[in-house]
Formats: sequence, structure tokens, C-alpha cells
Amino acid sequence: MARILLGVTGGVAAYKALEFARLAIKAGDTLRVIQTANSQRFVGTDSFAAITGAPVLTSEFERDPLRGSFPGQPLPEHDPASHLELVRRADIFVIAPASANTIAKLAAGIADNLLTSAALAATCPVVVAPAMNNNMWANAATNANVETLKRRGLTIVEPTTGDLATRNEYGMGRLAEPADLLAAVRARMPGGQRPWDGLKVLVTAGGTREPIDAVRYVGNRSSGRMGIALAGAAAALGADVTLIAANIGLPVPPSVHRIDVETAADLADACKSEFPSCDVLLMAAAVADFRPSAPAAGKLKKSDRPELIVPMSRTDDVLTGLAAARQPGQTVVGFAAETGADALANARGKLERKHLDAVILNDIGRPGIGFDSEDNAVTILTATGDTEVPIASKAEVAKAILQAVSGLRSSVRSRA
Ligand code: CTP
Repeated sequence: MARILLGVTGGVAAYKALEFARLAIKAGDTLRVIQTANSQRFVGTDSFAAITGAPVLTSEFERDPLRGSFPGQPLPEHDPASHLELVRRADIFVIAPASANTIAKLAAGIADNLLTSAALAATCPVVVAPAMNNNMWANAATNANVETLKRRGLTIVEPTTGDLATRNEYGMGRLAEPADLLAAVRARMPGGQRPWDGLKVLVTAGGTREPIDAVRYVGNRSSGRMGIALAGAAAALGADVTLIAANIGLPVPPSVHRIDVETAADLADACKSEFPSCDVLLMAAAVADFRPSAPAAGKLKKSDRPELIVPMSRTDDVLTGLAAARQPGQTVVGFAAETGADALANARGKLERKHLDAVILNDIGRPGIGFDSEDNAVTILTATGDTEVPIASKAEVAKAILQAVSGLRSSVRSRA
């Protein structure tokens, strides 16, 4: 397998780099590790040395007992500068976690420690997996630095959204999960491919809002979290992802193309223009079934009325229209938010009535899952049967859904 040079910078997520190293070695890769001084405050060199079976380097002035070779390689006869020899021999250089500070140094070409010197000298592919506080990730300086690295051909494995290291902090900035990072590293290797490379995925998420007047609306409780998780998971598989976001106040992975919409009609318009070119539609948005028939242009005053009755009209069922217009090769997945004993039967009804390839049933009556929560549990319904996905983070549930979609697509291909 591959010779991976792993650079670890300072951050709580350094412990996940240990797991990455463990997974890579289990898969047959050989690793050498460079740690910055700050990273050793979080994980000691002994841990990486034990996992990789090789000494860890921390300074450009320290001699490498392995003279820049990887485990299993013969030692060179001479004593080369360790960082130059390590990057020369590595198939890939992975910097995980990459702190905002190291990313800024990489963007500026600063080489003030062993890790940044090695990065500057690297001619192999370089993969950078950032991890930091959500505000640091959102900062314009970090944004610009990340864009610079992308333009130069470095691969950024984007952080995910979730609980951050600091107590009670939530947002985008968590280091990618070790298994996902390893998949991204594999994909970046010469000849490497991700399973959804070249696939166009359209995700709808959030909840539509239908105006009653200039300030009020009829809405729903969907936060968009499940749709964002699906978009992120599809992008991690290599897909080109567009997210139609209905009133979502959460960050979206930067590699995902985001189109903001407000009403069911806006969402329908965006879907009509995006759907024809997509391979997979994941219709996770909670779309209003009714909208006020004649929204007031200004603000309705309460003074002259004892009650407010708002006549509502049916909206179009966007998904039914899209599924009816689909071309061969397009996979269409609907979602069903249901409560009660008939949940499964109702979801199966939607699968058949709307002519879908799959329906993801969300039993929103169950505590701890569904709207605005971090976790979910779903049942995936297809023509051939039901698959239960037990309670897990929305990121994990998203992966399970995409795995089912992959299965559906390959069974269609093998029938064709
Ligand atoms: N959907 C849609 N357009 C609508 C309503 C729903 O495209 N006007 C889509 C949703 O995005 C979801 C699927 O249809 O993927 C099922 O939505 P859901 O609200 O559960 O079902 P409905 O068909 O609206 O049926 P009901 O509300 O009666 O359960």
C-alpha cells in the first residue's frame, strides 16, 4: 500500500490522528509522523511511535534514526536531512489535524518548523485536514488561506459540523472522521478514485416558509441538519453536490454549491432547473403542502380583528413532478416524516404513489431524533424491502443512506 507521511499540528483533534494512523497501518500502509511542538501538548510522540513502529520527528535539527526511510525500507547509506528525505520517499503527505496557524503558514510558504519545512519541500500530493473552532474556520483569513492551498493543488479534507472540543461549542470545524480522511487520502493517491467521482447530486434541505403577510409566515421545524449531512457525505464520496437550502441557518461544507430558497414555489423553481442535470436527488426538505392563498403585501394589523382566518391553497408536490419527469439513470429519493403506528405503511404509500426509488422514513414521534436534533434513526424503504438504520449521528445516518443509494444504482446498472 502507501507510504504516508503524517504531519500532526496542535489541537484537541490530534487524538483522531492516532486513529487515522491505526486505520492506515491496519490497511497495510506504512507511516512516518512529524509532530509540531504544540501537538505534543495534546498527544505525545510515544503514542505515534508505538502505532507506527517508527520514531517520530519533531525538529529539523534532530537526527532521524531511520535516516528518512519508512518502516520496511532499507536505510540509506548517507545521513540525509530528515524532512527532505521523508517527503522524497512519501507517496503522500497528510497534515491532520491542520491548525489555522499551520494553514496560514502553508499559504504564506513559511517554513519555521519541521512540518512546514517538509510541506514546502514536498513534491508528492499534500492532503490538509483542518480542525479548529468554528469562528476560526469561518474567519476570512482562514478562508483565503484555504482557497490559496486549493488553488495550488493541495487537497483540503473539509472539517465537519458537530460538537467541537471546547465545552458547549457546536459548529463547523471538527476534523473529518479518520475513516473518511483515509478514503480521501486514497482518492488523492495517483490512480485513486472516490466512489462518487463524476456523480451530480442534488439535495434539498430545510423547511419552506409561506408568507401570510410582510412579516409572518407558515413554516415548519426542519433545521436542515439531515440534508446538510447528506450533502457533506456525498461530497466526501467525490460527488459534485448542489444543496437547495430552504431557510437554513447552519453552515454548509464549502465544497457544496448552495442555492437559498424561501417558499415551496422557489424550491420548485430551483429544483426544476437543477434536477435535469443531476444523477441523484435526495429530497430531504420539508416542503409546505399549503400556502396562504393571498398573502398581504403589508403587515396585517391585529387591532381591527378578533381572529385571523387565513385561507390556504395546496402547493404542488415538487417531488412527484420531478419523479414523473426523470430520465433513465436518475435516482430519486424522497423523505417521509411520519408519526404513529401507520408510519411504515404511509411511507410505503409515498414510495409507490410518487414513483420513487427509495423513501427515507423518519419517525418524528420518537424522542431524541428528528427535527433539530443531532441524531437520527431512519428506515430506508425500497421496492425490494426495508432497512433499519439505528440511532446514530446524522453524519452516520447520511452515510448509510448513501450506501443504500449506491446499492440501488449498481443494481439498476447490473440489470441494464
Ligand atoms: N414533498 C414535495 N412537495 C411537497 C410536499 C412534499 O416535494 N409539496 C416531498 C418532501 O420533500 C419529501 C416527500 O415529498 O421528500 C414526502 O413529504 P411528506 O411531507 O412526508 O409527505 P406528503 O406527500 O406531503 O404527505 P403528507 O404530508 O400527507 O404526509
